[in-house]
Amino acid sequence: MTEQRICVMGLGYIGLPTASLLATKGFRVHGVDVNPRVVRTISEGRIHIVEPDLDVLVRAAVSSGNLTASTEPVEAEVFILAVPTPFGEGHAPDLRFVEASTQAIAPRVRAGDLVILESTSPVGTTERVAEILFGARPELRGEIAVAHCPERVLPGQILRELVDNDRVVGGIDARSTEQASTFYRRFVRGEVVCTSARTAELCKLVENSYRDVNIAFANELSLICDALGVPVWEVIELANRHPRVAMLRPGPGVGGHCLAVDPWFIIHSVPEHARLIRTARQVNDAKTDWVIERVLAQADRFRDPVVACLGLAYKPDVDDLRESPALRIYERLKEALGEHKVLAVEPNLPSSDARALVDLDHALERADVVVALVAHRPFRAVDPERLKAKVVIDTCGVFR
Ligand SMILES: NC(=O)c1ccc[n+]([C@@H]2O[C@H](COP(=O)([O-])OP(=O)(O)OC[C@H]3O[C@@H](n4cnc5c(N)ncnc54)[C@H](O)[C@@H]3O)[C@@H](O)[C@H]2O)c1
Repeated sequence: MTEQRICVMGLGYIGLPTASLLATKGFRVHGVDVNPRVVRTISEGRIHIVEPDLDVLVRAAVSSGNLTASTEPVEAEVFILAVPTPFGEGHAPDLRFVEASTQAIAPRVRAGDLVILESTSPVGTTERVAEILFGARPELRGEIAVAHCPERVLPGQILRELVDNDRVVGGIDARSTEQASTFYRRFVRGEVVCTSARTAELCKLVENSYRDVNIAFANELSLICDALGVPVWEVIELANRHPRVAMLRPGPGVGGHCLAVDPWFIIHSVPEHARLIRTARQVNDAKTDWVIERVLAQADRFRDPVVACLGLAYKPDVDDLRESPALRIYERLKEALGEHKVLAVEPNLPSSDARALVDLDHALERADVVVALVAHRPFRAVDPERLKAKVVIDTCGVFR
């Protein structure tokens, strides 16, 4: 069965590792992206995102001939949709990319095929994918399998987690669930657990909402500690010695296109019931504003202040800037203090990046106020002596 052809729609953080992994497991994979630059890069055996070991995997997959890429879908036995699912106006889910990629594969799907939605989606989206397909191809009703299998990988460990994580698979009917779970069992070492499409959709949203709510607790605690003059990191460390307490860490807010986005899909579906989830989102967003105010108050103590922002990504050791609170803080500080007064250090972005990044040494030399926004590895190694004469605002505990 490893002769199966797979068509992966969307070659980003999820689609590209999935496509290249499957290609090195013997499947014949065709990756599709609407961005021609992405397609060109991958076709040359190179990558456009930062993820450990992905470059080696993609090179191997492309040179074996098992991974090809283009802007148009091809016929396949399995279609995987791994396109973005952002929110739009008023935090309403924006399903344009899911709908467009479904429309694009519709002419290529044949009876017996399996269509899997991997994008994180509001409850009911997999059924919507099926309806779009049946709308375009009424003869396929009852003849194809359509399922949801949410991704839970952690950027930085995607290749390992794609294989090792448990997967939740839910089809629009029993046959879809069966066909999709059989597919995942061919390359997943973790357990493949079967359910319905709607349960699988909500399961993923709940996982991220759970984390968002718990981070909100830590962020709220950081404000409480600041007001009371008590060190938050020590409080958390000590409280976590309680055998049934496991608090998460505060930060400059919550970012990424998962934790900062997915809870809104629940809130939007059932606003009257999702009160705690909504409040957590608001607490986490407000933490970012609090950091900005704090930095500006400290900068105010200097006649001509220079502020260094350490990190722009939404989490340590990745280049992903989506919904990043660190980036938001950097941009708002620039607006308030002036372009040349705010330096940004982001070791995971190329120096050619349009944001005029500086290196860590330069930033530490010039800055009056050092704001640690992301606990990237190089920042963890900063000699405390170099910070002695500076005002330091460590939002992520990197200098502890
Ligand atoms: N990145 C993660 O860590 C992660 C983890 C779990 C779940 N997810 C979910 O997976 C999905 C994909 O996320 P991602 O991080 O890979 O996004 P991404 O932005 O990195 O990649 C998506 C790719 O899809 C392409 N695309 C857009 N519309 C298309 C279309 N109609 N046809 C073909 N390609 C199209 C884009 O050009 C882009 O390259 C989202 O729903 C996300 O929430 C992501």
